[in-house]
Amino acid sequence: MADLSVNVCGIDFKNPVIPASGVFGYGREYEELFPLNKLGGIATKGTTLKLRTGNIAPRIAETPAGMLNSVGLQNPGIDHFISTELPNLLTKDLVILANIAGATPEECAEVAAKLDSTDVHMIELNISCPNVKQGGAAFGTSCEMAAEVTKKVREATKKPLVVKLSPNVTSIVDIAKSVESAGADAVSLINTLLGMRIDIKTRRPILHNNVGGLSGPAVFPVAVRMVWQVANAVNIPVIGMGGVSSGRDAIELMMAGASAVQVGAAIFTDPYAPVKIIDEMSDILDDMGVSSVRDIIGTVQPW
Ligand SMILES: Cc1cc2nc3c(=O)[nH]c(=O)nc-3n(C[C@H](O)[C@H](O)[C@H](O)COP(=O)(O)O)c2cc1C
Repeated sequence: MADLSVNVCGIDFKNPVIPASGVFGYGREYEELFPLNKLGGIATKGTTLKLRTGNIAPRIAETPAGMLNSVGLQNPGIDHFISTELPNLLTKDLVILANIAGATPEECAEVAAKLDSTDVHMIELNISCPNVKQGGAAFGTSCEMAAEVTKKVREATKKPLVVKLSPNVTSIVDIAKSVESAGADAVSLINTLLGMRIDIKTRRPILHNNVGGLSGPAVFPVAVRMVWQVANAVNIPVIGMGGVSSGRDAIELMMAGASAVQVGAAIFTDPYAPVKIIDEMSDILDDMGVSSVRDIIGTVQPW
């Protein structure tokens, strides 16, 4: 059996498969279906300084081979996460990536500082949310804002810091380089692609927020391209995601340069998807005669 273990930023994962932030909550609903310790890790729901009730419904729309969401970072706030959810997750023998967000660099840093004194393994900073100090443009859409928020969070914590990049940019490579220079230990990508659907009978957008983030198999080729470009441009590990729904997809994204893989929307069509992906990866690597998944990372041979 192929060895599926990987190491990202000095943290050991028993396998490279991680449910992505926002599709797995804090794991409670899924631990009734399978033991969470089968997973390499969990990226927890994006958590902010204070509780957020999220956007008004409808906040989900189906699309061909994907979905749009505008959940709006609904979460119970960092203090609740630390007192109630994190202790449960830390008993599960897997890597916990606490996904955090905020409306200002200072808020992101305050959330990170609270996590710094916990036993959480890694912090994943979501920079796709609006920076209220800069007229609501997402942090991740400019090198300056992305670097500023990364630097502030870096100063607030010694935990391994993964900065999660937005694909809604002209050059994701430039953003990746600027967060690397600002102190990120790793990058993860891609977050959702901004999209929109309209109900032609009512002429209203299907999402109450008008626009939302596209994810699922439809975005997979975009994720492969961006992971490949970023992995070739930075010297820190890349965690890949975007449309992964099979072991084959996970292996493809790792060949593009990802050291680990997150699984998002696929979990909504099949809650067992991450576990199936782990088993499929193992079978495929055995068929390929590859003894360690680490041996496939970044091995694509471009023309
Ligand atoms: C319903 C939903 C909620 C999400 N919430 C978050 C979040 O809180 N923080 C975050 O960084 N990404 C969030 N994401 C983005 C995913 O973590 C992931 O980056 C994206 O969906 C692409 O992966 P996928 O195509 O496998 O879903 C969310 C995605 C979905 C579908």
